[in-house]
Amino acid sequence: MVAGSQGFCQETGSQASASLVLDAGAAEEVISRHIYGHFSEHLGHCIYGGYWVGYDSPIPNTKGIRNDVVEALRKINIPNLRWPGGCFADEYHWMDGIGNERPKMVNTHWGGVTEDNSFGTHEFLELCEQLGTEPVICGNVGSGTIQEMSQWVEYINFDGISPMAELRRANGRDKAWGLKYWGVGNENWGCGGNMTAEFYADQYRRYATFCRNYGENRLYKIAGGANSEDYNWTETLMTKIPLRMMNGLSLHYYTTDWSNKGSATDFGEDRYFDVLSRCLHIEKAIDRHMEIMDKHDPEKRVALVFDEWGTWYDVEPGTNPGFLFQQNTMRDALVAGLTLNYLNARCERVKMANIAQTVNVLQALIFTDEEKMMLTPTYHIYDMYKVHHDATLIPLTLESPEYQFGDESLPALSASASRDKEGKTHISLVNIDPDTPIEVSIALGEVEGKKVRGQVLTTPEMNSHNTFEDPSRVVPVEFTSAKIKKGVLELVVPSKSVVVLEID
Ligand code: AHR
Repeated sequence: MVAGSQGFCQETGSQASASLVLDAGAAEEVISRHIYGHFSEHLGHCIYGGYWVGYDSPIPNTKGIRNDVVEALRKINIPNLRWPGGCFADEYHWMDGIGNERPKMVNTHWGGVTEDNSFGTHEFLELCEQLGTEPVICGNVGSGTIQEMSQWVEYINFDGISPMAELRRANGRDKAWGLKYWGVGNENWGCGGNMTAEFYADQYRRYATFCRNYGENRLYKIAGGANSEDYNWTETLMTKIPLRMMNGLSLHYYTTDWSNKGSATDFGEDRYFDVLSRCLHIEKAIDRHMEIMDKHDPEKRVALVFDEWGTWYDVEPGTNPGFLFQQNTMRDALVAGLTLNYLNARCERVKMANIAQTVNVLQALIFTDEEKMMLTPTYHIYDMYKVHHDATLIPLTLESPEYQFGDESLPALSASASRDKEGKTHISLVNIDPDTPIEVSIALGEVEGKKVRGQVLTTPEMNSHNTFEDPSRVVPVEFTSAKIKKGVLELVVPSKSVVVLEID
């Protein structure tokens, strides 16, 4: 490798080649910006220390919410934020988190720490207003009552005279928030109550019935979906819940070997290959869930909501095992790029997705430590990919070389293309091969651009990552070597890199 003038390493030695054909004439599906959504739970230092520092903190904040984190998430145009869990959602009693008297509770799932409820409904919705994002609230089915869930919706959304609207006003908020996205429980096959699919389907019907629409607002109700490859769960819910009663069906799937999660930073090529292979396997599994949905809902009235995904490794040595704090390397950036390319391609059915979890937990975008804040490689992928938000998907055909490791191989290149409202075309390319650059030839077809510019995220090592001491080791740099000649765009995608191009 030699240092290139573009700030990343240009590679010498062997090179593979790939071809891509864009079919802009067939572009019609819109990539919902909500595919680029996020998830923040009362877990470790995601909420406390991650967003919430309190009114009296010396850390610069607005109404107790740290300004640096809000600014970073506004920059990526964060489209939605799911809260308060996760497993926490099914033991959360929202009335404990409003008003001046807030009882404490034990966060039994995440470290057994005391939750003081200082961050509750008002604080979360204030955070969403500061972020300019859509809130997604997950209600408690596992240990909460129907009345409790029904009253939460009334408290947030009813503008008239009612006990809950009056209570909200007494707590300082006159106008209803008009929240749209509502999850009815979380992982109810596991931490959300260990229910059977049949039992949950019936519970969903009851709980969802009492989540009322107020005024013009229409709730977008999301049923708690399957774990990983539990196709029976999807089949049962699609059979037993009338389609008119749910707008979305969720799915959770982490890129993890549960018997040996491994280190986030200390890994060889075997674990690198394993994680990327799991990531690509998830695509096949989601396709199967969607086949089941297609069978029951050919008109695609119910969206697939992939509301928990990402990498999950061993916690960083010396940290609380219940806090799920892990570093984030170039490997995580590749997982994010691959997954987002895939979700774009399935945007006909996938209308929302939420990476787990935004700050200080699992595949985080942001780390904080007291007054310090830094961005991870995964953050930079969301920044580079924001050009796909609400853009029209351009179908494509890709011929990729293989990335070989031992006896196994994976397609080395992944791609996604879209046209935004201003007519600019964007192409995101991910090369997972850790050693071999790929020469890519893109037939632009009806895309009429003359100019191309771009950004690349790549690193010398598979495990390169940012730290508070060195926060800019993995950052995107300008990519200037792509050229268009007679309707063909040519470039070399470096090994283990993500490139996003703009053509106009
Ligand atoms: O994201 C961490 C946990 O993973 C969530 O609380 C739960 O829903 C899932 O099992």
